[in-house]
This record gives sequence, C-alpha cells and structure tokens, in this order.
Amino acid sequence: MTETPARTDIGDQGAYAAAVQTAVSASAAYYGEGDSPLDDDAFDRLVRGIAAYEAEHPEHVLPDSPTGKVAGGAVAGDVPHTVPMLSLDNVFSAEGLEAWAAGLLRRLGREVASWSVEPKLDGLAISARYSGGRLVQLVTRGDGAAGEDVSRGIGMITGLPGRLAEPVTVELRGEVLMTRAQFEDANTARTAAGGAPFANPRSAAAGSLRTKDRAYRVEMTFFAYGALPLDGTDEGTAARLRELPHSGIMELVAGLGAHTTAATPVPAITATTMERVRERVEEIAALRAELDFGIDGIVIKADAAADQADAGISSRAPRWAIAYKLPAVEKITRLLDVEWNVGRTGVIAPRAVLEPVEVDGSVVTYATLHNAADIERRGLRIGDHVTVYKAGDVIPRVEAPVVHLRTGEERPIGVPSACPRCGDEIDASQQRWRCVRGRSCHAVASVRYAVGRDQLDIEGLGENRIDQLIDAGLITDFADLFVLTHEQVIALDRMGETSTAALLAAIGAAKAKPLNKVFCALGVRGTGRSMSRRISRHFGAMDAIRAADAEAFQEVEGVGPERATVLVAEIAELAPLIDKLVAAGVTMTEPGATGPGEPAPDAEAGEAGASGLPLSGLSVVATGAMSGPLAGLSRNEVNELIERAGGRASSSVSARTSLLVAGGKAGSKKDKAEKLGVEIVTPEEFAGRVAAFL
Ligand code: IVH
Repeated sequence: MTETPARTDIGDQGAYAAAVQTAVSASAAYYGEGDSPLDDDAFDRLVRGIAAYEAEHPEHVLPDSPTGKVAGGAVAGDVPHTVPMLSLDNVFSAEGLEAWAAGLLRRLGREVASWSVEPKLDGLAISARYSGGRLVQLVTRGDGAAGEDVSRGIGMITGLPGRLAEPVTVELRGEVLMTRAQFEDANTARTAAGGAPFANPRSAAAGSLRTKDRAYRVEMTFFAYGALPLDGTDEGTAARLRELPHSGIMELVAGLGAHTTAATPVPAITATTMERVRERVEEIAALRAELDFGIDGIVIKADAAADQADAGISSRAPRWAIAYKLPAVEKITRLLDVEWNVGRTGVIAPRAVLEPVEVDGSVVTYATLHNAADIERRGLRIGDHVTVYKAGDVIPRVEAPVVHLRTGEERPIGVPSACPRCGDEIDASQQRWRCVRGRSCHAVASVRYAVGRDQLDIEGLGENRIDQLIDAGLITDFADLFVLTHEQVIALDRMGETSTAALLAAIGAAKAKPLNKVFCALGVRGTGRSMSRRISRHFGAMDAIRAADAEAFQEVEGVGPERATVLVAEIAELAPLIDKLVAAGVTMTEPGATGPGEPAPDAEAGEAGASGLPLSGLSVVATGAMSGPLAGLSRNEVNELIERAGGRASSSVSARTSLLVAGGKAGSKKDKAEKLGVEIVTPEEFAGRVAAFL
C-alpha cells in the first residue's frame, strides 16, 4: 500500500465536468439503491482525479463536485438527523496513519489518552432511534444532514433488537450489512421470486432496506459503532453518553442488547501506543478473509470524550477518527465465457472466463462457479458485468451479475447436455454433475495423479506415456500398471530395454508403499494427502476402511457428516479398482497404525498432550526452505513428520494455527503468523521437538 493511490487522469475542463457527473450519479446509486456502476476502487480513483484537477484549477470547481461532501453529496432524505452523520477521512498506509496521528497530537497539544481500533464495516450507515427501549425509527445517512425513513426494515435486522434490555431513549448509530450467508439467501429468494440478483452484499442490504413491498423475507445484520442521546433521554444515560469514552459507550450499547463488533473475530480494542494500534490494524487485516461479513478498512478513534471534544470536526468528518482503508477485494469485470472442465474423478465443473482484472494484488482471469444450479440461481449471462471477489485466502469467485449494466447483448450460458470430454451421458442427480464414466472418463488425469510424487511416486510415467498405455489398451486405471509385462512395455514406441526395466522396477517398488500412499492414489473425492494419512492411520488397513460406515469415518479428525457420506459412497464406487490392487499384491496396511478404538503406539510415552505425542492437538504449518535436519525434505514429507508426531499439518495460517515452522525466505505466511501472534520456530528448533519421529 502506498500513500499516493492511483487516480483517474483528468486533462481538461470538459473531462472534469464529465468526471463530476459520473461521480455524482455513481455516488447517488451507491448510497441509494446500492447499484453503483463503479466498484469502490474505480470510484475512489475518479474522486482522487477530480480532487487533483480541482487543486490545480480551483477556478473550475463545480458546485456539485463530490469532494469534501459527506457521501459524495448523495441523495438526501426528509428526516433531519439530530446530529449530522459524518463521513471519515481516509489513509492508505502505516505512514499515512502515523502522519494523521501526529497531526492530531499537534492539534491537541498533548498525547491521546487511548485509541479505539475497530473494523470498518462495509454496509450502510443507519441511525436507529429507540424510545423507552422500543425501536421506533430507522433512518439512512442520506446527505449527512437528513436521511430517508427506512423503518420498514425493523424486524429484519439481526443485532438491532425491537426492545432494548432497559427502557432507555437513545439513538444507536451503526452499519447495516448482509453476511455472506444472508446475501446468498437473499439472492436465492429474490431470483426465485423473479427478481434480478443484487450485485454484492452491500447493495443487497441497501436495496432490501429501501424496497417497499417484497414477496420474500430477507435477513440483515447490524453492528453499532456509536450512540447519542435523544430528546427524552434520561439525564443519567445522557451524562454517560457525553462522558464515557467511546469504548465505554460500546459496552453500554452491548449491554442494552444491540450487536457490536465485540462478538466477532475482530472485536474493537483500545490501545495506548501507536505501535499497538499498528499491530491491531495488521491483525484485523489478516483476519479479513476469514470473516463472514465485509470490512473495507479499520477505523481508529481517539477513545476519550475529552480528546474527541478538543479535536472537533471538519465539515465532512471528525478530526478524532480516521479510516485506514484496505485494498478492495471485490471488483467489477466482464464474464466472457463459461468453460466446462472434467476433473480426474469425472466431476464436470463450470469455470468463469473473465476479462482480466486485478483483485487484491493479483490478476484474476478465471473464477469458480460451483455447478449448473449455482449459475442458474445467480442469473448469470455471458457478456454480463459481474462482481468478482476473493474468498478465503485466494480462490476468486463470481458473486453476481451487475444487472443494471446490461445492454441487451448478453447471452444465456450454455449448459452441456453430454460430457464435454468423452461425449457420454451426464449424471445430474447430484448438485455436482459427473460424467457417467466417472474416473475412467479422464483416466489420464487420474492415473497421472496416482503415480505422482506424493502418491505412488512412479518415475517415468508422464502424461504422454500414460496416453500411450491407454491408447494401446494396456491400462484403463492405475491398478492395471501392476500387471504390465516386459513384452507389453518394450513394444511401445520409444521404449528400450533400460527404460522398460526402470519403469517396471519403479512400478514394482510402488507395491510396497504404505496404505496412506495407496489410499491417496485412489483420488477419493474430499481427501488429499493429509486426510489420506489420517484415515490410513486411524483404520490401519484397507479392509477396515472398506468396512467403515459414515459414523466410523467421523471418528477421523476433520471428517464431518457430509464428508463421511461422500467417503462411504466413494469407497463403494472404487471397490473394483481396490479389488484389482489387492489382487496385484499392493500393500494394504499402514505400518505403525493400530486400528480404530485401540491406543496409539506410544500412548504412555511422552509428557505432552493426552496421546503423549509432542504435537498432539496442535495445528502446524511449514513454510519456506527447510534446513538443518529437515533439509531436503519435501513439503509433503515435513507434513508427514508433523502428523507422525501427532500434529495436524495445514497449508494456510489462520487464527487456529498453533505453530509455524518458518524456513529460509518464508514470506507472507510468516508475516501473517506474526500478526496473529502464532508461535514461530526455525526448522532446527522444530527438528529438536520431533527428533524421535525423524
Ligand atoms: S465511526 C463520525 N466506526 O464508514 C464518524 N464508522 O466512511 C462516525 N463505518 O459513515 C463513523 N464502520 O457508515 C465508524 N467502526 C466504524 C465504522 C464506520 C463503518 C462507516 C460509517 C461512516 C463511514 C465513513
């Protein structure tokens, strides 16, 4: 992040006038129906361009310019606010924050007693008026001086109770938004009722609050960020609202029964040093991807009432608060096409092809679409402008079409009627469609996966060679590899005596691989390397896995009811392949495993954890180049080590991570672990802890 973010170039007075008009109408749409044609980044670039032009040509400034106005001068309503609903000034970097804080201290002529650091909720500002403890009126921000009455939203907003815990008269201010789940539900209900989907949770909340009659129910969420006295507020409460620090007011509000950020993974905190403020900014930013509601920054406020009073306000924003903006994780781009790809298990999955767009630091060209029903539900068409966002850490997803940008040229998305790979029928009985040939539809991909380094590790079997074996009718799955003869292999093009012997030796060696590798090679849906290890260690033998029902699978760490059901179905489907492997003499047991219900091998041995293993109960992530005793181990081998020592290996750092093994050149995972306060050790230190398992 830099302090000089990009801005739209505005060359002359004509371009300036056009830019002002675009910004004014986008702003009205954003604060009105929530259907702005510009995403946040594009709007901010435009306003910065306008401000830069105005700085150079003050004589050209137009009266409706959005600069210096609350809500960009958006539509006003007819309900006057008791106290203006202000905006916030922005910074975009740690240096910007530092400069702002220094300016505030200069203005006050003293240190700030304490800071409040809290998420900037990405919804719309609401004033909620309570009389005698009863919610009587909801008003939007409007132009800051007056807003629109949206009291029809009463009863639809979680966190904004109809009755407070005490019969007080008070105005709560906060943000109304939709959680991701509420957004999905709202769009499902809306499209089912024949309506056009909302582009994103923010516009869904804005649109839903303003819709007068609706045939379906939507649910929204409120988070308070302030409270004010009203006419009729008892003197005791009014005095507390005047005198308490912001953090105290938020406690009072939570005590009355309204939602605050206290109950979220990113609660507001107070800090007495700027160092702690910066640290908290980083912590909240690191947790953003895991939240089920949108945040677009962090708000830093002087906490004490006296500091706020002395800092005062400008025409637009308080001087005692600042928004530290985070980069947009949602952009608008075009949906150019939808591709249907067949995976190695025969699943046919749609993928959106997008006009390349930068989202949060990387260029996105493809995005996940779950299945045909999902496309239908979202009402997407080829050529649509769509909102795209990054879910979790990395996976880009298409959220919704931006319906008001349609030109009429958009086309329906073609849904395949036959398997796009082999032309056979599609089994559409489940949400995720599959080719009726299942794994054999894309045998090359499933065999390639099975012989990969982390599974059976058979060298010399590249895609071309596998293609050749399939075309020659020698194999239909990877079990057939184990019955290949010398004559069959040497007869293939470009195979000599030495390469044939080497390939057959590698195949022979793979027979002795432990069960976890064989199980992983099966490519069971819903399992990868680490889950295969857990299942193999838990059951100890393929027979036990085959005998397990859904309940038995749920005893494996990380297997819930849904995955357990898929596992049972998958094992049943794979029965002929497993039979072939057994007949070929492939290993079907896991060395060192004891089987379900029996104690782990060294249950009594160690001091740590109930199971006695040093990493028992810990979630461990390894990153960077391994060194010391771990040098030369692949990431998978390190993960195997973690799991042998009783830990759970994971590839991404989150609030649930217990330990990060950070080798040389460890990058963003180490940064994130530092921000989250996760314990970090070097490969050498880690090797010391798990020496017995190396
Ligand atoms: S305090 C007097 N705290 O951001 C200033 N605002 O861009 C009152 N917002 O109008 C705002 N989260 O709608 C505050 N934790 C938070 C917030 C927050 C979101 C919104 C609010 C404000 C807008 C300014």
